[in-house]
Amino acid sequence: MKNLLNNVEEVLLMGPGPSCVAGPVYDALGVYTLGHLDPYFIKIMDEIKVLLRKLMKTNNRLTIPVSGTGSAGMEACFVNLIEPGDEVLILINGVFGTRMKDVATRLGAEVDTLEFEWGKPVEPAKVEEKLKGKTYKIVAVVHAETSTGVRNPVKNIGKLLEGKDSLFLVDTVTSLGGINVDMDGWGVDAMYSGTQKCLSCPPGLSPVSFSERALEVIMNRKTKVPNWYLDMSMIVNYWEGNKRAYHHTAPINMLYALYQALLLIIEEGMDSVFNRHLENHTKLVKGLENMGLEMLVEPRYRLPMLNSVKIPAGTDDGDVRSRLRNEHKIEIGAGLGPLAGKIWRIGLMGHTAREENVERFLKALKEVLKR
Ligand SMILES: Cc1ncc(COP(=O)(O)O)c(C=O)c1O
Repeated sequence: MKNLLNNVEEVLLMGPGPSCVAGPVYDALGVYTLGHLDPYFIKIMDEIKVLLRKLMKTNNRLTIPVSGTGSAGMEACFVNLIEPGDEVLILINGVFGTRMKDVATRLGAEVDTLEFEWGKPVEPAKVEEKLKGKTYKIVAVVHAETSTGVRNPVKNIGKLLEGKDSLFLVDTVTSLGGINVDMDGWGVDAMYSGTQKCLSCPPGLSPVSFSERALEVIMNRKTKVPNWYLDMSMIVNYWEGNKRAYHHTAPINMLYALYQALLLIIEEGMDSVFNRHLENHTKLVKGLENMGLEMLVEPRYRLPMLNSVKIPAGTDDGDVRSRLRNEHKIEIGAGLGPLAGKIWRIGLMGHTAREENVERFLKALKEVLKR
């Protein structure tokens, strides 16, 4: 019988995610599937929580992977914390801040926004101004805006919220595992990520973490969480305690993969992993600039794992990307929204962030652009 999987070729994933998956992580996907309440599997779940806390730099009890991609994590954070009429401030400078606004609005929140140009960071001084005399229930921001390659100043925004009653909600889908994320140090109350970026797993899980303060808000809601699947007050009974209760059938093998991927990061050393991202980013930018290309984002706000480069005038965006994919087996990303057709997004996430990949990509791009 025809099997399309036989013709899947290895592509060097240098787009905005998914990123390359390390061999041991692929191996983990093929380990025998255990029952979702099997005692040995529960041991693995407990270890995943420990490793995630380490990587997120948090002591939060409720630190678990949600079944679903990064957007499920986003939804989980908002749906558990928002009740209709709650005031929420979302800081927007790209696609994913915009998505947060959509999610929060659908939940009946009174959503206020502060918008910044795409390609520029959120400015804490403007946030400070906005917060004067006002207490939002939630202030939300994306740490690493994948649509532009900008790193937002989460630490400084967290400082503005110190001593206030607002909950600080941060998207670390692209940043976790690639740059420092300090959940407790930055005063973050709710955080979500995704497996398919710097964690170098296939897509499918979204690590989330809630502070004790956030947990209290969840447990004292006046209304039920309107989404059964993502209701943390129920999911917690599967992930914690001596008597684990079925909630939904956990994606066992994806959890093996996440466990293995987290082990790889901890074994390499978190700081070494962050340095590897930075070093390869520096090499990539140097190579692109040597070719006469220009980066979108100012150096001090650049993300090492997502590099936005301006498409030179007269160059066919789609043609370059399809030739890289077809002739060189390399995937890069297109621009989104106002940046569509204007930039390419080159990912150096997780297992992709290696010198041989940077060299192979630069050589390929040079050849494609020369023709
Ligand atoms: C910053 C950010 N947030 C959220 C998401 C949504 O994640 P997913 O596509 O895994 O649902 C992405 C995906 O690219 C992202 O980059």
